[in-house]
Amino acid sequence: EQYENILVERRGRVGLVTLNRPEALNALNKALMDELVAAVSAMDVDPEVGAVVVTGSAKAFAAGADIKEMQSKGYMEMYAADWFRGWEDLTRLRIPIVAAVSGFALGGGCELAMMCDFIIAGDNAKFGQPEINLGVIPGMGGSQRLTHAVGKAKAMDMVLTGRFMGAEEAERAGLVSRVVPAADVVEEALKAAEVIASKSKPVAMVAKEAVNAAFEVGLAQGVLFERRVFHSLFATEDQKEGMAAFSEKRTPEFKHR
Ligand code: HXC
Repeated sequence: EQYENILVERRGRVGLVTLNRPEALNALNKALMDELVAAVSAMDVDPEVGAVVVTGSAKAFAAGADIKEMQSKGYMEMYAADWFRGWEDLTRLRIPIVAAVSGFALGGGCELAMMCDFIIAGDNAKFGQPEINLGVIPGMGGSQRLTHAVGKAKAMDMVLTGRFMGAEEAERAGLVSRVVPAADVVEEALKAAEVIASKSKPVAMVAKEAVNAAFEVGLAQGVLFERRVFHSLFATEDQKEGMAAFSEKRTPEFKHR
């Protein structure tokens, strides 16, 4: 596939997608969105790919949605196009996706990182939802996902003031899973993705689905959903192999890696 706004590589069983609009600090225009969704959608159904890493440059994961692309649009145009709707397709994919964030993750950049399953941040990362400075509000899920991630106090603080949050604060607040030296962020994310990709892919997909249910349903329904899908895994060869390997003190050879 030839893409103009992203670079796509394979590292073993991991797909690496690098946002590549350096002249605009990886501002997320529609073309980039379409390419990213297409690339990760292909990996989702590719049995050779078990996990994905999405990253940007050392300076910017992404400095936001493309302001210049939106600037002159009117309400009717935004509504008719259902602007940003395409990002929902990314969140519906089942393959695990790790965000490797170095530098700015602002506005849509922060929102894209939060659409991924977890975020590994470089110690230079800066997260923010500065849309209020542009006379708008987050439009790619930030008001919801940031609030789920860090709670009302910090989400309100960031969305209302537009201030940035550094990597340390982001880890303390639960926005990112790990902070690593900035130079190592892609390598560390690839390592985490390799670990995931060494598991059974369908089982990893079910695990992702179960955790995501926590954001959609109440506790009793979520626990019931988990138990039912847990039961269903006993119909898989990979459950038989995983448990046999444990009993035989060997490494599992998952069939559906
Ligand atoms: C379009 C952008 C952009 C963006 C940066 N650029 N961010 N273009 N959309 N979101 C462009 C700049 O215009 C500039 O182009 C080039 O990238 C380099 O940026 P500089 O500003 O010169 O770099 P620097 O001085 O290092 O400042 C970095 C920065 C700043 C602090 C990240 O770029 C910035 O504040 N960007 C906007 C951040 C933001 O508000 N994001 C939220 C967007 S709204 P030229 O051609 O001049 O070299 C959003 C949610 C959607 O994401 C809601 C609707 C708006």
